[in-house]
Amino acid sequence: MSDPKKYSIVRYTPGQRINHWIIALSFVLLAASGLAFFHPAFYWMSNLLGGGTWSRILHPFIGVVMFVCFFLFAIRLWRFNKITKKDKEWLSNMSTVLKGETAGVPDADRYNGGQKVLFYVLVILMLGLMASGFVMWREYFSHLFGIELVRLASLLHAIFAFLLICVIIIHIYAAIWVKGSVRAMTRGTVSPGWAWKNHRDWYRRIVRNPDAE
Ligand code: HEM
Repeated sequence: MSDPKKYSIVRYTPGQRINHWIIALSFVLLAASGLAFFHPAFYWMSNLLGGGTWSRILHPFIGVVMFVCFFLFAIRLWRFNKITKKDKEWLSNMSTVLKGETAGVPDADRYNGGQKVLFYVLVILMLGLMASGFVMWREYFSHLFGIELVRLASLLHAIFAFLLICVIIIHIYAAIWVKGSVRAMTRGTVSPGWAWKNHRDWYRRIVRNPDAE
């Protein structure tokens, strides 16, 4: 058989993959240091950034890195995440999808309905974390706001962070569960079989026009 690499479909450019992994690494560092601030039981996690003081200094800056990289990535992917009638149908068939069956489930484009919903949840949480984090950032900004607002921002920041951790656990689980997906973000390519099975409308678009994204 000829080289299977010849039959790979490009899903992410190297720039997009680097960007995504900067977001993922920032997320891990932020979650660990954030949990260390949240409860003494997690304080040991502050070691990842060199202890409590360094965590306090670095956490907000890493937050800005994650926010900027996320939006650079999200802006490029926005047009593929518009929710269509087919996506709504896909979402109403969620229980079938979770059983690993395909009967009655409409074909997905580059992203399925679940991925698109997750995308917008991420956008909302990122905006919420950035806005509340800005109000709480003692070194530079929190003196601009009243104590009540800083307290409210701290509460919201913790809620948004908790939700982001839950959503990212689902994101990672789905990436592993749908075999062949992680490769899209490591090597940048997927097999035609993966595209046909999971994103048939996208596959059809690529076959019609190999330059389509
Ligand atoms: C170790 C952690 C992570 C793993 C293993 C992972 C894995 C992946 C994989 C495999 C894809 C490609 C899915 C596809 O093309 O169908 C993807 C896409 C994506 N990831 Fe991650 N990811 C991780 C962390 C994150 C984090 C922390 C964020 C943001 C806070 C994130 C945001 C995204 C977005 C926005 C997409 C594109 C999906 C879309 O546009 O609907 N990922 N990820």
